Amino acid sequence: MMKATAIAPANIAFIKYWGKRSNKFRIPLNDSISMNLSGATTTTTVEFSPHFDHDDISFIGEITHEKETERIIQHLDRIRKLAHKKIFACVVTKNSFPKGTGIASSASGFAALTVSAIHAIGLTLTEKEKTILARIGSGSACRSIPDGFVWWHTGKKSSDSYAESLFPSTWWNLCDVLCVVSKEVKSISSSKGMDAIKTSPYWKSRVNQIPEKMDLVKTALQERNINTFGMLLEEDAISMHCVMMTQNPPLFYWNDATLCVMDVVYELRKNGVAAYFTIDAGPNVHIICEKKNEDIVSNEMKKVFGVQSVIVNVPASGAHCIKHHLF
Ligand code: DP6
Repeated sequence: MMKATAIAPANIAFIKYWGKRSNKFRIPLNDSISMNLSGATTTTTVEFSPHFDHDDISFIGEITHEKETERIIQHLDRIRKLAHKKIFACVVTKNSFPKGTGIASSASGFAALTVSAIHAIGLTLTEKEKTILARIGSGSACRSIPDGFVWWHTGKKSSDSYAESLFPSTWWNLCDVLCVVSKEVKSISSSKGMDAIKTSPYWKSRVNQIPEKMDLVKTALQERNINTFGMLLEEDAISMHCVMMTQNPPLFYWNDATLCVMDVVYELRKNGVAAYFTIDAGPNVHIICEKKNEDIVSNEMKKVFGVQSVIVNVPASGAHCIKHHLF
C-alpha cells in the first residue's frame, strides 16, 4: 500500500529566518538556528493510489484554505516528479495547535507532509535531501526534520541550503513556555511579509550581523549558558521585529498582551529567574528558560492579562514516520 503517516514538530528559531534570496527555492538571506517543540506537532497521512482522480487535501478540525491546498499540491508535484510517478494523493492533516497564529504551522506542516509523502511514494532520501525538499515547501520546515537543536545553512544554491542537527534533543533541559495570546489567523503570512524585507532601511545591518550571532548562539548552546543564550535570542527577535515594523507597509505583529508578557519576563529576570522571550510572525510569545524554572514561568504567565493558554514545550526529535494512520 502506498500510504504513510509522519509526525513533525514545530520549531522556534533563536536566530530567525526573515527574507529570501530566492523566492522560488526559498533560499534564505541568512542562516538560522532553532529548537524543535514537543508540544506543537503536525501529523499527516498521505496515500497515493491509481484509483484517485484528483488530490484530496483536508485538515481535521480546521477549515482548509484554497491557498494552502495549492501549496500542498505543488509540494506533492515536486515529490511525484522526483519519484517519476503520476499518481494522485489523499492527504489528511491534524495539528496539535491552532494554525496561522505564528506557531509555525507551515514548518511542522511541510516537514510532516514531506516525510509522509516520500515514504508513501517509495522514495529513499538522506536527511539532508529531506531538509532541502521540505525547505522548498516552506523555509522553516527544513529545521523540523533533524533532531533537537538545528542549524539551517543559507547555502548558495538550492542543493546546499539544508538543515542539520547541532545537538540532540537530550542536550539541554530547556523549556519553551509558549503563551498563546491570540488564536486568530494572522492577516499577513510570514511568506508575504518577508517578501518586502528590502523596504526596511535596517535589513542589511540585521543580515550582516547574523554570521557572528550564529557562532555566539552555537557556543552558548554548547556551554549551556542560559544568560548569554537568552540575551542573544531575545535580541535577535527584537531585531527581526524592528525590520518588520520598518518595512513598507509596516508589519506590527504584537498586541497588548504580547507587551504585557514581555514586561513580566523582564520582571522575572529582575527577580533572578533566567527567562527570555522570542516572538515569530504573530503576537504569541515563546519564553525560553531552563526546566527548573518552568513552573514559576508558566504560573506567572497564566496570570498575565490576555494570556489565553500556556503550552510547555521541551526539545523534541525531528519529523519521523509513525504506524498509526489518520484514515
Ligand atoms: C518569523 O518558514 O513560514 O517564523 O519560507 O515563506 O514558508 P516561508 O516562511 P516561513 O517563515 C518563518 C519566519 C519566522 C522566523 C523563523 O521561524 O525563523
